[in-house]
Amino acid sequence: MKRLKKYAPLALILTSFLNSNAQQSFPMNKETEQKINHLLEKMTIEEKVGQMNQYNGFWDVTGPAPEGGSAEKKYEHLRKGWVGSMLTVRGVDQVRAVQKIAVEETRLGIPLIIGFDVIHGYKTLSPIPLAEAASWDLEAIKNSASIAAAEASASGINWTFGPMVDISRDARWGRVMEGAGEDPFLGSKIAEARVKGFQGEDLTATNTIAACAKHFAAYGFAEAGKEYNTADIGTSTLHNIVLPPFKAAVNAGVKTLMNSFNELNGVPVTGSSYLQRDLLKGAWGFNGFVISDWASINEMISWGHAKDKREAARIAAIAGSDMDMEGYVYVEELAQLVKDGVVDEKIIDDAVSRILRVKFELGLFDDPYKYCDEAREKETIGNPKHHEGVLDMAKKSIVLLKNENNLLPLKKEGQKIALIGALANDKNSPLGSWRIAADNNTAISVLEGMQQYTGNDLIFEKGPDCFIGNSTFLDEVIINNSDKTGLDEAVNAAKKADVVVLVLGEHGFQTGEGRSRTDLELPALQQELLEAVYKANKQVVLVLNNGRPLAINWADQNIPAIVEAWQLGTQTGHAVAQVLYGDYNPSGKLPMTFPRNVGQVPIYYNYKNTGRPTNKDNNVFWSHYSDVEKTPLYPFGFGLSYTTFEYSDLKLNGTAFKIGDDIKVSVSLKNTGTRDGKEVVQLYIRDLFASVTRPVKELKAFELVELKAGETKTIHFTLNKENLGFYNNNGTFIVEPGDFKLFVGGSSVTALETDFELN
Ligand code: BGC
Repeated sequence: MKRLKKYAPLALILTSFLNSNAQQSFPMNKETEQKINHLLEKMTIEEKVGQMNQYNGFWDVTGPAPEGGSAEKKYEHLRKGWVGSMLTVRGVDQVRAVQKIAVEETRLGIPLIIGFDVIHGYKTLSPIPLAEAASWDLEAIKNSASIAAAEASASGINWTFGPMVDISRDARWGRVMEGAGEDPFLGSKIAEARVKGFQGEDLTATNTIAACAKHFAAYGFAEAGKEYNTADIGTSTLHNIVLPPFKAAVNAGVKTLMNSFNELNGVPVTGSSYLQRDLLKGAWGFNGFVISDWASINEMISWGHAKDKREAARIAAIAGSDMDMEGYVYVEELAQLVKDGVVDEKIIDDAVSRILRVKFELGLFDDPYKYCDEAREKETIGNPKHHEGVLDMAKKSIVLLKNENNLLPLKKEGQKIALIGALANDKNSPLGSWRIAADNNTAISVLEGMQQYTGNDLIFEKGPDCFIGNSTFLDEVIINNSDKTGLDEAVNAAKKADVVVLVLGEHGFQTGEGRSRTDLELPALQQELLEAVYKANKQVVLVLNNGRPLAINWADQNIPAIVEAWQLGTQTGHAVAQVLYGDYNPSGKLPMTFPRNVGQVPIYYNYKNTGRPTNKDNNVFWSHYSDVEKTPLYPFGFGLSYTTFEYSDLKLNGTAFKIGDDIKVSVSLKNTGTRDGKEVVQLYIRDLFASVTRPVKELKAFELVELKAGETKTIHFTLNKENLGFYNNNGTFIVEPGDFKLFVGGSSVTALETDFELN
């Protein structure tokens, strides 16, 4: 009885997906569909399931290796045609070797799709994705993804597990470094730019690769920022905050999605029919395929959702997880489930069609070795043009957080500069997390970057070692909290200098997967070093290297100049030096709110007002913490420049509009300083009264504007009903009449505001 009840939804699911007339996310080619059907007719059930099976290469395991995962077994399965994809196989010779087995030794010769985590570059590394998001420069971000695609594809790879489009409000979560920050609008624009950058105009070209929007969904809302944790969120947050970037990726033509390790409201998302069938493949018309996260189908057993592998396979397949990443569940269970009549073969056919479709789209059936060209590999990887591209991206990603008395830019001559901090001559940490293909110690360090400027007297002192040993992708970073060797030398160097440049922050492997933290202050002995150096010399420029917002309250109160330089990849040192010396005027803006302390987290700009937003009655009964200001340290969208900007003349083309009217907004922006510069003009709205309460501000448009010193420009925006509505608690998008506020400025703490009415 219990079993029958459990199978009941299958009929429903089948009818809903097979009858789905939803618009397709990318155009389907009739000829291709015929070829797919033709192939399906020839395939045994084991071969079909094989297409749904992905194995890791024989190194770089990112999770627990499941039992039985021996290389011998993988080879055997490859030869039988029981493997549809490999991940983390890289390099033309390696890829050719596995592809050759699939194409030349299996019965049907179906090529493999070769996946890899190309997260912020392949060998030549761009800044970490969170840093790139700080540029708000969609063209630069797209270009960065296309450089990554060019290098990865030259190495035999044709599919990246990126972009990660998870919105997160929790700096404790290590994976915030992989995403675009806290905002669904900015996140959607960046998702689109990255998908287009990876996939290019022509997916059959040899320098483009299929993208994968991950992790579907709500992984960024893992409770308390703890890795692999539950996410328990309501429909309003799900539809208005979490899902928009995924939808944007689908609309941009992304070929694949990856689900995730978390559960959402009690259901591991790998087994969520609602997300994968109803929404993604139903309402959104997605016709690519969904891959599980690493063994996430298997992990439904630990979650307590599936009793064993057989049940996990059944749940995941029915729910719409098309490919099993290194989980050994489909390959072991799915064929039998079909033979037993538990899983309808139509579900398998649907999954396999989706996988084959992407393989056809990549042109793998025409030439399975198209990405395997040694000459191209040699010429493309590390190409000087790529270095120029990632340097450009790195400069654009830097955010100037503080610059009292114009301490920056540094004078180019006649100065004694003390460069201090173990991270300043580190060539590994600035590469950031998630850079499996890049060689260790290949970043230009800040020291090397500064040494390019020879007009000053530059002294380097490391100070205490912060991070002990050469941490790797798999290891916990070891922090030095006790050995102060080097502290005195650093202080002495500071005493003798005109200006101190102090490089502090996190190790590149303190963020990323498995790197959640409960402390957001400067780790190791760095706070002590900072205070000691400041005591010796007040002219301190603090350069931060980090992969998440940090709580740097003391620094903000005391240090005159602070530069957020994240982990900027291969060209880190050149980018930092060019900004410090003023050869590049910074224009980055924070894509995530910086808290005053960890207790404020989650803290984000688009919060709800609450019933008691202020202490107007002068007593304690209002929404706040009693031991810290309500505001963040640095708000979302914030960032300074070496010049200054003035906003004026905010105008709308009316005060009352009908739903469906275009609202035209104009604002005047003047560069009031003495340098040319760029400003990200940001437009926010607030829907004052709604059936489902709306945030105090929502970003709805932005533009990166370049202005010469003294120049004024008028910036125009148009808002339409898509910008003014929201998803209600049934997940339906609605636009309600009512009163709105509109704000424009250079951060989420905006300069100008006006009102309008929607009827
Ligand atoms: C991560 C994914 C990644 C996969 C393959 C997992 O642990 O969550 O984001 O793509 O490993 O490396």
